[in-house]
Amino acid sequence: MIDVLDARRRVVRRLLTRRSGGVVDLSSLESVPRRLLRPLRRDGLDPVQRLGAVAPEPVHRLAHMFGMNIWLVSGQAEARAVLADQGSFSNDIRPFVGTSGSSIGGLGFTDPPEHGRLRGLLTPEFTMRRINRLAPRIEEIVDAQLEEMHAAGPVVDLVEKFAFPIPFLVICELLGLPDEDRDRFRALSHARFDVSSGAGAFGAISESQLFLHEAVRRQRAEPGDGLLGRIIAAAGDSVTDEEIAALADGVFTGGYETTASMLALGSLVLLRDRRFFDLVRDDDSAIDAVVEEMLRYLTVVQIAFPRFAKVDLELFGKHIRKGDVVIAALSRADRDARVGPDLNSFDPRRPSSPHLAFGHGFHRCVGAELARLELRIAFPRLARRFPELALATAPSNLRFRDRSIVYAVDSVPVHLGGLPRSS
Ligand code: HEM
Repeated sequence: MIDVLDARRRVVRRLLTRRSGGVVDLSSLESVPRRLLRPLRRDGLDPVQRLGAVAPEPVHRLAHMFGMNIWLVSGQAEARAVLADQGSFSNDIRPFVGTSGSSIGGLGFTDPPEHGRLRGLLTPEFTMRRINRLAPRIEEIVDAQLEEMHAAGPVVDLVEKFAFPIPFLVICELLGLPDEDRDRFRALSHARFDVSSGAGAFGAISESQLFLHEAVRRQRAEPGDGLLGRIIAAAGDSVTDEEIAALADGVFTGGYETTASMLALGSLVLLRDRRFFDLVRDDDSAIDAVVEEMLRYLTVVQIAFPRFAKVDLELFGKHIRKGDVVIAALSRADRDARVGPDLNSFDPRRPSSPHLAFGHGFHRCVGAELARLELRIAFPRLARRFPELALATAPSNLRFRDRSIVYAVDSVPVHLGGLPRSS
């Protein structure tokens, strides 16, 4: 008898893949069903309140499609339980996308024992000691961007000149990609998380993986001193070029738009209430708390990777069937009223509130400390270099990406103001 899970996977695979080569293509779905996009919708910086009506319970059945239930988990304790449970849930999307799944790559879509083996290759590159060694270089990168803003002023787009270039250059540095490769790589990395861009997003996945594959092949012959070269040197033939390329791709996509979005939206949070902008500018001791609260408040990775139930199970009173999809709504979980009072407001003076901005459990963000470091360096330097920085448009003109898994704003025009104060 055909396994029911296999049959469902086959249906999804047919819907998701093009006949030519089986490349994943979301555009082959006429449109992503609206109901599934609801957890991604926000109102400015806030999760849309009306989702409460759509998903009134912490574990809620959002939709039934392709013969399976899709569950949304928006309570923080419930989301933690799902993210920590590798026994009941799988991250592996590859059975749904056929042979081309090998090109999906990255840690986020793998299960044990493969996940542990691959993650073990990365973690030595993300120890505090190694991350802190990047600090002087991050400072230089930030300062160079601030100078570029100054040269382009008095009105510049903070997204273009500040939020995107900083994490892009930091990750190129981390991976050890040569300068001459960076422009092409930047072009390939665009729009990868935007579900509305359909084939564009997934087309970019395979192209940038080919690009990274090539970079790995070159470093196999001559290992550099970045992450690629160090993994090659440490793991030798026990890891394939394709695996390293997929890992690097996961690092890149995991760390690029996420951090860029934090820099752009975080700047908006600071500019919305000058007290916080001034705090970051004047008080070095405040930055850790500001960044932590910002991570919680914005939770830019709005939903975790989908988890597929491997077995029938009870989840906080709901019956989840083998093959069902469970989606942890991180942005909502981080405002769960059961965790603390008034979590819909941004308040860095509150006792820090536990959050899921970096996920939880086995797939928790590898780059969390690098991201924190970038944010802690970038915001105070921005505020000191341009103490009169101000939005150059009405907040109502800002366009937020409302179908994107990584919540983002398209552009943030700012006026740089007068000269910096001597510090
Ligand atoms: C503020 C910026 C960032 C945020 C909000 C963020 C958020 C997240 C979240 C929520 C997950 C877990 C997803 C899940 O369990 O389904 C994750 C995983 C991951 N992140 Fe980040 N991330 C950020 C920055 C970075 C950086 C800088 C890097 C690397 C340079 C990175 C690399 C990764 C990788 C490789 C994973 C997959 C880990 C695994 O599956 O074991 N992230 N990130």
